[in-house]
Amino acid sequence: MLDIASMRGSLAEAYDLAPSVEAAEATRDIHARMDRVVPFADWARYAPYVIAINRLKAERNAVILAHNYMTPEIFHGVADVVGDSLQLAIKATEVEADVIVQCGVHFMAETSKILNPAKTVLIPDMEAGCSLAESITAAGIAEMRAKYPGAPVVSYVNTTAEVKAASDICCTSSNAAQIVAAMEGDTVIMTPDQYLAQNVAKMVPQKNVVWWEGSCIVHEQFTPQDLRDFRKFNPETRIIAHPECPPDVVAEADFSGSTSGIIDYVHKHQPKSAMLVTECSMASNIADELPGVDFVGPCMMCPYMKKITLEKILWSLHTMSQEVVVDLEVAAKARIAVQRMIDLSRKIAG
Ligand code: 13P
Ligand code: SF4
Repeated sequence: MLDIASMRGSLAEAYDLAPSVEAAEATRDIHARMDRVVPFADWARYAPYVIAINRLKAERNAVILAHNYMTPEIFHGVADVVGDSLQLAIKATEVEADVIVQCGVHFMAETSKILNPAKTVLIPDMEAGCSLAESITAAGIAEMRAKYPGAPVVSYVNTTAEVKAASDICCTSSNAAQIVAAMEGDTVIMTPDQYLAQNVAKMVPQKNVVWWEGSCIVHEQFTPQDLRDFRKFNPETRIIAHPECPPDVVAEADFSGSTSGIIDYVHKHQPKSAMLVTECSMASNIADELPGVDFVGPCMMCPYMKKITLEKILWSLHTMSQEVVVDLEVAAKARIAVQRMIDLSRKIAG
C-alpha cells in the first residue's frame, strides 16, 4: 500500500508543487478544455502537477492511457490517449514508448501488459480494483464450464488475467452483443457481469445466455424509478445508460452503450439536456466540448477509478513504481482471449 505521507514528503523535496497562479496561467490552453467544471482557483492547484508529469513523461519515454472515468485534470491535463476499455486495449497494442502509465483500474493495466508485454506498465495505485474483476476467479470459470458443458465462455475485460486465461474470448461493453452472437452453439456463458449478460441476452435472443452473478457497485445503484422520476420532471432530457446497469434501468433509457458510445451519442445528438447513467466524471470530461448541453442527474463515483490522482501519477513516474507484472504463462493464454476479441471486433466492424 502507498505510504501517502512519505510520498508527499519526497515529492515536495523533488518538485515545486505549491498552488501557483503562474503555472495556471502558463497552462491556460489546457484549462480551457475543462473550465466549465474546474474553477481557475482549483486549476492553480493542479497545474504544477500537470507540468511536472508532462515533463517526466518525456524524460521517461512514457505514455498515459486514461479511461473515460478519469477526472478532468487527468483526462485533459496529462493523458495521451483516452477511451473506453476496448479503445485503450487496442491502443496498448500500438504503443511504441518504453512505458505505459495506465490511468484506470488494475484489469486495464493488466490488459495493456498482456497485449504489449515488452513495455513497462505502471498503475499509479495498485489498489484501483473493480467489483466485477473481484467477483470471479478461474475456479468460477471452471464451475460454469462444469454446469454448462461445451458452452463457450465470454468474459468481460473487467476480469483478472487468470480469468481471461481460463476463458474462450473476452468482450467489452462496446462489442458484447456481437461477440455473443458470433459464438457457436446455443448456450453462451457470460462472466462476471450478470447485468451486462442480461442486457446482451435481450439483444441476442437466438442464444441461451447464462451468467455469473457479479455486478458493478456503481451501475447497480441506479433504479428504473430514478429514471422515471427524472423523466417526469425533465421530459426533454435524453437519458443514456451504461450496459452494466440492470436491464430495467437500461429499458428506461433512450440509448445504452460503452463509455465512448455514450460520448459519441451525446456528440451526435447534442440534446439540450442529458443524463448520463454512469460514472460521474464522464459528464465533466465532455462538458466543455458540448457547451449547449446541460448535464443533469445523479453523480455516482467509482471509488476504484478515483484512487488515481495527479499526485500518484507523478509518484509512479518519479519512482517508476507500481509496476504491473503478469505471469508469462497466464499472459500468453489471456492474450489469446483478448486478441480473439480484438480480431472479431475488427471483422464485425468490417
Ligand atoms: P467501458 O468499456 O464502457 O469504458 O466500461 C468500463 C467500465 O469499467 C465501466 O464501468
Ligand atoms: Fe469496475 Fe464498476 Fe468501477 Fe467500472 S465503474 S471499474 S465496472 S467498479
